[in-house]
Amino acid sequence: MEPTPEVVAAFEAAKGFMPVDEGLALYAAAGEAAGLGLPLLEVGTYCGRSTILLAAAAREAGTVAVTVDHHRGSEEQQPGWEYHDPSVVDDEPGVGRMDTLPTFRRTLYKAGLEEHVIAVVGRSPQAAKVWAAPLGLVFIDGGHTDEHARADYEGWVPHLAPGGLLVIHDVFPDPADGGQAPYRVYRRALESGAFTEISVTHSLRVLRRTGAGL
Ligand SMILES: C[S@@+](CC[C@H](N)C(=O)[O-])C[C@H]1O[C@@H](n2cnc3c(N)ncnc32)[C@H](O)[C@@H]1O
Repeated sequence: MEPTPEVVAAFEAAKGFMPVDEGLALYAAAGEAAGLGLPLLEVGTYCGRSTILLAAAAREAGTVAVTVDHHRGSEEQQPGWEYHDPSVVDDEPGVGRMDTLPTFRRTLYKAGLEEHVIAVVGRSPQAAKVWAAPLGLVFIDGGHTDEHARADYEGWVPHLAPGGLLVIHDVFPDPADGGQAPYRVYRRALESGAFTEISVTHSLRVLRRTGAGL
């Protein structure tokens, strides 16, 4: 399943970190999972680059993408760190903190996908705790510390329906390539016996829920 040229153009124009080949793999997974007729859940909205793909797949299937972020940025996006972008700081006196929400809203509006997305603004573990509906896809791309990646996995994976897809970004088996927290979550999923890997595209891993458990 391939996104339309308009969707690819919107994805490429959006701020974010995901390369096109990983985006195409995410879209293919989202398209397949959307066939279950259940919401597609993303942890880590940032400015909406990957959300565009989930929203487009949800639109095709008549379901919805749900994306969760506090919009204050991860550790590595704070001032002075490698992935900081000063254009997404709220420079209101007395605030001065990262705020990716306005850029995210603009991204979705320009892509014409607003009505296919529910944006949850808050902390992923808190949102997961009050969430009750089964999900067709869980895409984990939030905080990249062990604490955050583990909480995302433990909070959202219990809601993933049988046959649903778990997608994890920034999985680097070699520590020289990047942080290990997403890799550890990926290993945990495989070792649980509840998941079967269905695709690998650079650091993007797609697993299917083929059993119960966590
Ligand atoms: C790597 S970025 C997401 C990139 C996005 N998926 C894309 O492809 O453009 C990670 C995002 O996770 C958010 N985040 C980190 N920890 C979080 C938490 N505990 N709850 C909610 N959002 C969190 C950050 O604010 C940041 O916007």
